[in-house]
Amino acid sequence: MCGIVGYTGPREAYPVIIKGLKRLEYRGYDSTGVALQNGGLKVYKKKGKVAELEDSIVGKDLHAHVGIGHTRWATHGEPNDRNAHPHSSASGKLAMIHNGIIENYAQLKQELLKKGYSFKSDTDTEVLLNFVEDIKTNNHCSLEEAVRIALKRVVGAYVILLLDEETPGTIIAARKGSPLVIGIGKGEHFLGSDASPMLEYTKEVVYVNDYELAIIKPDELILKNLGNETITPYVQKLDIELAAIEKVGYDHFMLKEIFEQPQTIYDCLRGRLDAIAGTITMSGIQQYSGQIMNANRIVIIACGTSWHAGLVAEYIFEELCRINVEVEYASEFRYRNPVINKGDVIIAISQSGETADTLVAIETAKAKGAIILGVVNVVGSSIARVSHGGAYTHAGPEIGVASTKAFTAQLAVLTMIALKVAHDKGSIDKERYMHLLNELHEIPQKVSKVLESSEHIKRLAEKYKEASDALYLGRGYNFAVALEGALKLKEISYIHAEGYPAAEMKHGPIALVDENLPVVFVATKDSYHEKIVSNMQEIKARKGKLIAVISEGDDYTAALCNDVMVVPEADEILAPMLSVIPLQLLAYYIGVAKGCDVDKPRNLAKSVTVE
Ligand code: M6R
Repeated sequence: MCGIVGYTGPREAYPVIIKGLKRLEYRGYDSTGVALQNGGLKVYKKKGKVAELEDSIVGKDLHAHVGIGHTRWATHGEPNDRNAHPHSSASGKLAMIHNGIIENYAQLKQELLKKGYSFKSDTDTEVLLNFVEDIKTNNHCSLEEAVRIALKRVVGAYVILLLDEETPGTIIAARKGSPLVIGIGKGEHFLGSDASPMLEYTKEVVYVNDYELAIIKPDELILKNLGNETITPYVQKLDIELAAIEKVGYDHFMLKEIFEQPQTIYDCLRGRLDAIAGTITMSGIQQYSGQIMNANRIVIIACGTSWHAGLVAEYIFEELCRINVEVEYASEFRYRNPVINKGDVIIAISQSGETADTLVAIETAKAKGAIILGVVNVVGSSIARVSHGGAYTHAGPEIGVASTKAFTAQLAVLTMIALKVAHDKGSIDKERYMHLLNELHEIPQKVSKVLESSEHIKRLAEKYKEASDALYLGRGYNFAVALEGALKLKEISYIHAEGYPAAEMKHGPIALVDENLPVVFVATKDSYHEKIVSNMQEIKARKGKLIAVISEGDDYTAALCNDVMVVPEADEILAPMLSVIPLQLLAYYIGVAKGCDVDKPRNLAKSVTVE
């Protein structure tokens, strides 16, 4: 939620910032703004995407060597020019951008109003900024000192970047709960919500931790804690190439990411799965393998698509490991004072590793003594760092707001963990274990095969793009795929879609079925197949339009349907990694056919860093 960028050094700051904001636009695109310092501060901001800001400031004085920029996902105050960041302080001498929520802003605002401050926006950010300015003025202290004092009063989550007219070339930054990366160049520094804005300039980065404050000048980076003690920055080397964050010929990131899946699943298995030796090596899981094997319960916490991956994992773990699994929405888990017993293991799943609800849920479980294993995509992210152990999904940067390749990589990792635990525990026989290892090894090739049908799915998209509603049904391992297919369709095309367990349909949703309703079945060959075919008959009898994801060679099911999308056969445990692909493509092509901005769907943001 919200992307922040900063630069200080010899380059022109504006082009660096604008390019960085475009890379971070997936984090929010309600409004955009920059503050540049060249003598005084110049602030330009506008409702809408980065391109709209660019158009609106053609011909303005943009010369500066230090600046900050922001792309917003609105929390406090509607998306408009006034509420866009950066905000200027009452004196106009300070500018600030913010990602997060200041929960006690109303109280701080009251205090400032009593002192005679007035506010130009409805944001919590402007309140914090003036609170800082008030401290700076009254204490006659530096901006750094004022920020430190202010943050001790702040309740909530933040990354803030500030410019002060009185300290040219310097950016003050601080973080709690939202991500901040500092890129180290030669005589220059870059700042970003993630590393993408700095990738072409440097591979050396510092991930700022919670409760840290940074004073950044072109040739100096000072990191301190809120107690004013200096901390040695831990410099890490980025392992991402520029092509990974560019569209490289695809029309959209979402399409690129869908097509990357054979490679991303392969990358996820590489070095871990040895189908010949019959081994799975996962160093971040290894040391907790005993605890997982003997766990009373595994609790999976996640949100959105990651939650759907968790649902598939529930079925897999219970089947292979014979361990009780519960899958929780992170936001619900945290607030209902969950019962965590000794011997419970938490698996937190997150693409971004920054989802606020998941982070807070982890903290809750950790405080109750649970072991936390993270299944995370973004290396060095908050969830990766607060987890005791876990495994990265190695899917590479996912930029399209709709999650695609992260989902299949999560499934690959979770399946490997389950197989490893089952093997160590002895709850799976050797033959089935080896069979699944071999099948898993073949999944990337089978995904490539599914992708060959993209033109066919594009034609289906044309046929069904005018639907106002759709029902997605699946059973067993494919139940969560139905949920995921429905989520993809609604977020990308704004068509109302519901996912349901196929058999539950009779208990209510069947009332929706008429000759206009497309009903998408995920009906690959598995142990539920006959049952789901009966459910399809029930829809057909009521004249619903039957569309199904089916296994290759299943002519009987194909004959029942109006349209089918075919995937290669696979063991039912692994089938979701294949059956989800046509549904991702269907949502994508329908979104494109309807003229939707598929990479940046309305109201959404990639990384949900507010609760
Ligand atoms: O980064 P995370 O995996 O923690 O994100 C969770 C959800 O916000 C995310 O999956 C969201 O639902 C996507 N828009 C789904 O496409």
